Formats: sequence, structure tokens, C-alpha cells
Amino acid sequence: MSILRDKNILLGITAGIAAYKSASLVRLFIKAGANVKVVMTPASKDFITPLTLSTLSKNPVYSSFVDEDDNEVWNNHVELGLWADYFIIAPATANTMAKMANGVCDNILLATYLSAKCPVYFAPAMDLDMYKHESTKASFEKLTAYGNKMIPAGTGELASGLVGEGRMAEPEDIVSFVEKDILKQLPLYGKKVLITAGPTYEALDPVRFIGNHSSGKMGFETAKAAANLGAEVVLVSGPTHQTITHSLVTVKPVVSAEDMYNEVHKHFEASDIAILSAAVADYRPKNVASQKIKKKDATFSIELEKTKDILKSLGAIKAHQLLVGFALETNNELEHAKGKLQSKNLDLIVLNSLQDKGAGFGVSTNKVTFITSTNDVIENPLKSKAEVAKDLMQQILKQLNA
Ligand code: CTP
Repeated sequence: MSILRDKNILLGITAGIAAYKSASLVRLFIKAGANVKVVMTPASKDFITPLTLSTLSKNPVYSSFVDEDDNEVWNNHVELGLWADYFIIAPATANTMAKMANGVCDNILLATYLSAKCPVYFAPAMDLDMYKHESTKASFEKLTAYGNKMIPAGTGELASGLVGEGRMAEPEDIVSFVEKDILKQLPLYGKKVLITAGPTYEALDPVRFIGNHSSGKMGFETAKAAANLGAEVVLVSGPTHQTITHSLVTVKPVVSAEDMYNEVHKHFEASDIAILSAAVADYRPKNVASQKIKKKDATFSIELEKTKDILKSLGAIKAHQLLVGFALETNNELEHAKGKLQSKNLDLIVLNSLQDKGAGFGVSTNKVTFITSTNDVIENPLKSKAEVAKDLMQQILKQLNA
């Protein structure tokens, strides 16, 4: 999943030959999961048709202040500017950039630029000599001084036949430039987060196991929330039906508590944050039969032995990491959770009380209380697990920045 998913991208197109690449650009933004609207200068319609762009973007295309089909409808550039999470002007001609640099707004693209409050990116495209002209350089400088971000032009053969700088960056490069730039500004950019999720299965024989009803949803939502804040996530998950496709999340599937212990320890040292939300089996069969166990007697006993407590083992070795655990309790909840926080050397514990309706296993909601190592107790209302995951990441950010 791209960081652009569900973001509103406004693509501005100006009158350069590179406008023919705008169709690919719209498609790539749509493929990344973004909502796309297009605003064009009137002259750019000589290079690419609004019909192509509206078909690809699945939205009307704006090129004048007044709707072309209905003279009484005004295309509101302020609304368009406010709608956008990101405004990308590609291609940006020398003419448009000079106007942007000087506050000229004699078309809807320029008026939208002046109204937009979101980050603005521009991808220059022009002939070699124009690119090198002092006035163009002055535009670049002014626009970057305004906080707009330049997506540098490439070098290559130009439409004029000249070879040199001025070729608009390729659509794939524009998308990855914007993605990387957004990522860099996210609060967990450069941080590594380790998360455990789901149940563990403890084998009894080749066909049977002892497991639990954990769906893994809380851990998967937490992985998504962390990745959406820019973190690189390793998600160690027991058997679950949950899926995740996010460019920043790597899933490591495991089966037993022992597998999970081993996988977690491979990644802990390099992690900055570890969030252990898995419902790990506390006990496993002491002996695992190599053949399927046959039914013989009227009763059947299984001897169990303790599994390793993964969370506790991390608390014992943690150095720079922020360590988060979960506690599922049915009685004396706060007391038990505080006990676990201390005995497992945690920075934060997320308490689920099974006395709360809508909390715990197999439901899509959760009601949690955060308890910090500095004894802050933060109660939260019943929310979807996705919202709880976002709250948890905000709490972690607060503690990281404290
Ligand atoms: N946990 C773990 N490894 C285990 C058992 C639990 O990492 N073998 C982690 C869970 O992922 C959770 C936390 O420990 O973050 C609390 O688990 P919980 O079962 O509520 O607590 P326990 O310490 O196992 O204590 P008890 O079952 O007695 O309440």
C-alpha cells in the first residue's frame, strides 16, 4: 500500500509537450490509491484532452473559472485548493512558474495555486536554453523559497531535438519523489517497529494443536497505523486470516510460541519500538506425539509445560527500545496490568478488560486503558480496533517525544 492511499491529489497541467505524460501520471496516482482531480491551463488542452484526463481520474477536469457546459456554474478554485492534500504541477512550464513566482493568477490553475494551503510540488519541463535562463533559475529559487518542492528535470533528448536538461521527470519518478518526500516528514520515518499479532498454535500431534480465538486484528491494525506514520514494520504473526499489503510492512508468519520467540529475537535489537499484542499460549504440550494420537481410553490427559514469555524476555534485555505489552484481564484489572508493566519492564501497557462489552477477542471494537511506566492511566472509550491502533501510536509518539 502506498502512503498516497486515500490522499487527495490535485494534478496541475501546463502547456508543455510533456503534458502527454500526464495521462500516465494520473493512472499511477490512481493505482497508488489516491483520489485525483486535474486542473489545466487553457493552453495545455492543445497537448492533452480534458476527456482523457477526466476518464482516467474519474473526476471532472477544470480549465476555466466558468464551467464550459454551463456558464452559470463557477469553478471554485478555493474549494479545489482546500480539497487537495498535495498539489503537483507537472509539467510546469517556464511561463507558469514565472507567474507562480510573482503571484499572477490569470487562469484557474494559478488561482488554485495561490489558494492552496497544501504542499505544492512542481516538475519543470522546457527546452534546454529556457531551463538555463537566469529568469527560470530565479523562478526556481523563488518557488522553493515559498516552500514549494521542485522535482528536478532529467537530462536527455528534448522535443526540440536538443539534448540536455529540461526533460520532465518520468511519471514513475514523480510519484516516488512525492511518496518519499511525504514519508520523510512522517513522525516515525526512519524508525523500526516490531509487532506481534494473532494466536499461537501448540502442537499435540501432527494434526492437533492447542490454540486460542485471537483474530490478530489488533496487531494488524497497529502495524498499519505505525506504517502510516512512516515506520518500517516487522509484523510477526501467528496463524490468522488477516492480510496486509503496505510497502512498509513485512509479515513474518510463525506458528508456535517458540517460533514467535525466535523470530522476535531476530529483530528486537534493530527495533526502536516493540509492541507485543499476540495472544501467546502460556503452556504447550510437554510431549508432541510423532504419530496421530489414537483414541483408546475414556479419559485423556495432556501434560503441559510453560512457554517462554516473549515480552518478559525483551524487558530483560531492552536498551533503547520502547516496549509495549497488552494485558487481557477479567478482575482487578488495573492492579494486574500495573503488575505486568513492572515485572516485564515495560514502558506502556494496553489493558483490555473482558468486563467491558465490545472488548477483547473476535470483535472489531476494543476498549482499552493505557498505563505508562510513569503511572499515567489513560482511559479510552469503546472504538474500532483501527481507531484504538491510531490512539496507541499517538500515545507512543507522546512518550517518545517526552
Ligand atoms: N506474552 C508474551 N509471551 C508469552 C505470553 C504473553 O509475549 N508467552 C505477552 C502478550 O503478547 C501480551 C502480554 O505478554 O503483550 C500479556 O499477556 P497475558 O497473557 O495477558 O499475561 P501473562 O503475563 O501471560 O499473565 P496471565 O496469563 O497470568 O495473566
